[in-house]
Amino acid sequence: MLKAAILGFGTVGSGTLEVLERNADTVARNAGEAIEVKYILDLRDFPNEPHQERFVKDFAVIENDPEVSIVIETMGGKGAAYTFTKRSLEAGKNVVTSNKELVATHGAELLEIAARKNVNYLFEASVGGGIPIIRPMQRCLTANHLTQITGILNGTTNYILNRMIDGGLDFATALKEAQELGYAEANPAADVEGIDACRKVCILADIAYGDNVAPEKVETEGITAITLQDVAYAEQADSVVKLLGRTVLQEDGTFYAFVAPHFVKKSSPLACVTGVFNGILVTGDMLGDAMFYGQGAGKLATASAVAADVIDCAVHKNKRRSIGWGDGSKNLVRSLDTFA
Ligand code: HSE
Repeated sequence: MLKAAILGFGTVGSGTLEVLERNADTVARNAGEAIEVKYILDLRDFPNEPHQERFVKDFAVIENDPEVSIVIETMGGKGAAYTFTKRSLEAGKNVVTSNKELVATHGAELLEIAARKNVNYLFEASVGGGIPIIRPMQRCLTANHLTQITGILNGTTNYILNRMIDGGLDFATALKEAQELGYAEANPAADVEGIDACRKVCILADIAYGDNVAPEKVETEGITAITLQDVAYAEQADSVVKLLGRTVLQEDGTFYAFVAPHFVKKSSPLACVTGVFNGILVTGDMLGDAMFYGQGAGKLATASAVAADVIDCAVHKNKRRSIGWGDGSKNLVRSLDTFA
């Protein structure tokens, strides 16, 4: 029996517990052994949760327990999440996360620590919620030059734009709906200003091009300025408004990445990605196009990707997965683009 600890019992953390417990049979079969969540770290109290004994407020309890081999970081942010991730890896524990902010900004450093300690740092849920995208890029697409990646990477903004298009709602009302449904980040500015999509595009570019792109180097524009008038103009052009994150490989080997609202032709597969769904169109020079589509946000969808990483840690517990990024030295140039 493998023992895990969850850091942060919010939407994704509690969802991960639910997935691991509700699907304990398939988790154990695929992991090769049962996985038990021994601790849940959160500063808040959850009096209605069973197994109160496993709730802790002191990270040192987890850090110093040699039985815990997998730490599930679903706290978000770069503060305590960063510190606790480093301490977990240094203690020789595998870490899995959905925290795109941390992966986008400190992924290279955390992967280096993981490599030195011969443990895993896995982050499938950091891009595309429940959609498999990172593992396919690291495994199945590695014989391709990935010439373009174009993604609807943020479910909240896609939901908002969709409600503006189909429901005629104004931006503020649609945002409120998305928040009530639990899709938005704690601070929705990260969604609507494109920051969340920017972090995700950085992670995809890092994997695609072996680089370490700093989010502040990626020009980012969100959807706060989009009006119902823009939606109507798009309709006249047989298009829909979508927030796209894009990274494009150029012939000289440099690439550029950016996040911006686009008019997307209705004939594009990305135009069909509605609601909270994400769609990521990856183009390889050998493969051509491959489209990854599914729930990009939401409790159990995202948690299923976190839980899959936990299972992967169990499967690879004596054999670290080989993942490495570059040093951020590659050229990143910005070029304006449209998407048809
Ligand atoms: N707030 C994010 C989104 C959650 O709406 O896509 C998943 O990263």
